[in-house]
This record gives sequence, C-alpha cells and structure tokens, in this order.
Amino acid sequence: MNFKVLKSKIDFTAEVFGIDARQNISHEQKIQLTKLINEYAVIILKNQKINDDEQIKFSENFGFIEPAGTNTELTKITDRRLSLKMNDVSNLDKNNKPLTKSNQNRIFALGNRLWHTDASFKKIPVTFSILSGRKVSSKGGETEFCDMRCGYKALSNKMKNKVESLIGEHSLQYSRGKLGFIMKDVLTNKELKKFKPVLQPLVRKNYVTDRKSLYLSAHLGLIKDWELADSILFINDLMEICTRPDYIYSHKWEENDLVIWDNTQVMHRGRYFNDQKEIRDVRRTTIAGTEMLIDQ
Ligand SMILES: [Fe+2]
Repeated sequence: MNFKVLKSKIDFTAEVFGIDARQNISHEQKIQLTKLINEYAVIILKNQKINDDEQIKFSENFGFIEPAGTNTELTKITDRRLSLKMNDVSNLDKNNKPLTKSNQNRIFALGNRLWHTDASFKKIPVTFSILSGRKVSSKGGETEFCDMRCGYKALSNKMKNKVESLIGEHSLQYSRGKLGFIMKDVLTNKELKKFKPVLQPLVRKNYVTDRKSLYLSAHLGLIKDWELADSILFINDLMEICTRPDYIYSHKWEENDLVIWDNTQVMHRGRYFNDQKEIRDVRRTTIAGTEMLIDQ
C-alpha cells in the first residue's frame, strides 16, 4: 500500500493505492489506512467496484457500523432501497427513479448540501464515513470537504479559549429547518422526541493525533444557555472561518471512487447537480463512535 497527497492549498487529502476493498485487507494494511485517515482526514481509493456486502465488510475494519436513520416514517422500511447498514445518499426512490421535486424525502436529503459532519445529532457521534460512488452525475455533484483543524488554528488564543468553554446543541431539526423543512409540521410528537437536540463540545480532539478541530455542523443550531440570535451569528462567524476557500478540497466523483473521511476533523457538503435528470447513486457506511463527548 502506498499513497500520494493530493496537493491543494492545504494537504488533508491523500489518494491511496494497492487496496482492493472487495478483498480482506491485512492487519498491517488496516493499521496503515487508519493512520492515514487520522493523519490526513480524507482518503480516496479509486476503481473500487464494490457491492453493498463488500462495502459493509470493508467498513467493519474500522469499527461497528452505525445503523442508518430510522427515526421517521418519511421512508418506511419497506420503501428503503438499501439495508439498514447502508445510508442511501442517492437521489433515487426504491424503483431507482429520481425522487420528484416536491418529494419529502428529496427535500430532507437536500440537507446534505449544507456544510455538516455526519450524525453530529447523535449522543455518541460517529467517526469515519465511507462513501461509494456507484453511479455519479456527469456534471456537478462534487463533495467538498473543509479541514476543521485549520479552522481551529485560525482562531486567536482568546477565541480558542472561548470556544473551548462552549457547548453546542445539535439536531436534525436545525439543519432541516434551514431549508424550510419544519419537522414539527410534518412529524408526529413521538417522532419529534427522537430529534431532541444533543450536546456536543465546540472543540473536539482526534483520538490518535491529539489535534484539535472545531466541531461544527449544519445540525448545530444553538449554543447552550445563549440566545438563539446570538448563537446563530456566532456559529455563522465560525462557519465562515472554517469554509475559507483555502481550507477546501472538492472531490469530483468518478464511478467506483470510494472516499473515506474522518468526521472528527472535517465538514463536508454535496454540491448541486440536476437531480431530476441525472442519477447519482452514492452509498454510505458510517462507523459508530465509542463514547459521548459530553454528558447529556
Ligand atoms: Fe454527509
């Protein structure tokens, strides 16, 4: 296994060679790959023509798989295209047809186009995400990543101290609300309870490298004990710092790319493509975290 760093303004993406995700990887390869993900934060493996079972098996090298969201009746289990170990990040319904413009599942999924970290709304947040490009759009549909270690580093010492003392409230209600999807209008009270905000620190540390990152996400909607308006303005300022063009790598997908990122160190977002005409079938497995960062 070897790798090359993809040069952008900052180096946080590496392309790795010599791994076949369809095959069992050796213990040594697993250690090396995990080290690279922690060191760089975004890893690209090209030409990985895998199926769902192979993706699940490969992903389990990095920990337990976080089950896909089942918190709402928006998508009934019988309407799912994929198993509960797979997150469907496509624009497709169960008949493999593009979701129509006003379909609620489509609107919900558009939240992926906001800068976010996966599943920061869970009490125990996830670690790595593994995204497989089974079919990709001919135009647009890139995934952009920004390095949150740089965002943290860019802060003054005074601001670093301030953010380290703050706690954020994360919920899908906040991210979807930004797109006008008001959950309380659509979901039952029982479902809404499952979207109660969870607490996360604003700064988190990578377990392996000890490097600190800002922990932001579209799911972050409130700073604990702050006014909503003050929270929104403060979060917006931090978001602007972290998403400076210099801190971004944009991944232009090719079929069978497998992209792995560390949610403890980067945010990401999908970009526009013509989802009414083109098919973009990308599938995600996500690795569960092992501990709460803050008592709830
Ligand atoms: Fe995501």
